[in-house]
Amino acid sequence: MDTYRVGFFIGSLSSTSINRVLARALIRLAPADLQFVELPIDDLPLYSPDHDDDYPPAPRALKRTLAAMDGVLFVTPEYNRSIPGPLKNAIDWASRPFGQNSFDRMPVGMIGASPSSIGTALAQRTLRVVMAYCNAYTMSQPEAYITFSPATFGPEGDVSDDAVRGFLEDYMREFREHVVRISAAAPRPQGTEDHTV
Ligand code: FNR
Repeated sequence: MDTYRVGFFIGSLSSTSINRVLARALIRLAPADLQFVELPIDDLPLYSPDHDDDYPPAPRALKRTLAAMDGVLFVTPEYNRSIPGPLKNAIDWASRPFGQNSFDRMPVGMIGASPSSIGTALAQRTLRVVMAYCNAYTMSQPEAYITFSPATFGPEGDVSDDAVRGFLEDYMREFREHVVRISAAAPRPQGTEDHTV
């Protein structure tokens, strides 16, 4: 069976992150041919162009892992109606140095959970703009704005509500189709593994 490698960002550093719980659920419900690799953001220093000629180990590892991925999934909270700072920092590292943008032609999906009914819609709207600039291919539909309830999501990602589970399953099936379609139609540039950073 061919497999597709999906790097996933969790846009929260919280030890009790509801978005990490959501990510566990998504991985459990995903098609069997998707392999998931977390892209950690908690060990990244703050980005500065001063490092462009000699990336530190953690951002270098992030770019190396991204180069080996067939797709990227963002699972993120919304902070102050926008992208959480640590996640934006990771995106900035990955997008640089100039000319070595790790998101170039990358199939991307995004989803997020909030305790409120807004379900991270505004963070995702901003993230879409950022990914468009980074020349990623972001899946347009379905959109996924999850209102998180501990009654629905168990800590290990078990989902007790049939409708929510079905929605998340559909989302991951569509995301897989997106990755497969883009990988076939618009292969990523050759040699992305050979970043000079
Ligand atoms: C929030 N929260 C929040 N929620 C929301 O729906 N829209 C928002 O703009 C914000 N803004 C915001 C800012 C900051 C600094 C914090 C700490 C929190 C609440 C947020 O959704 C909630 O804390 C989630 O639990 C965050 O997700 P994780 O970290 O649990 O995955």
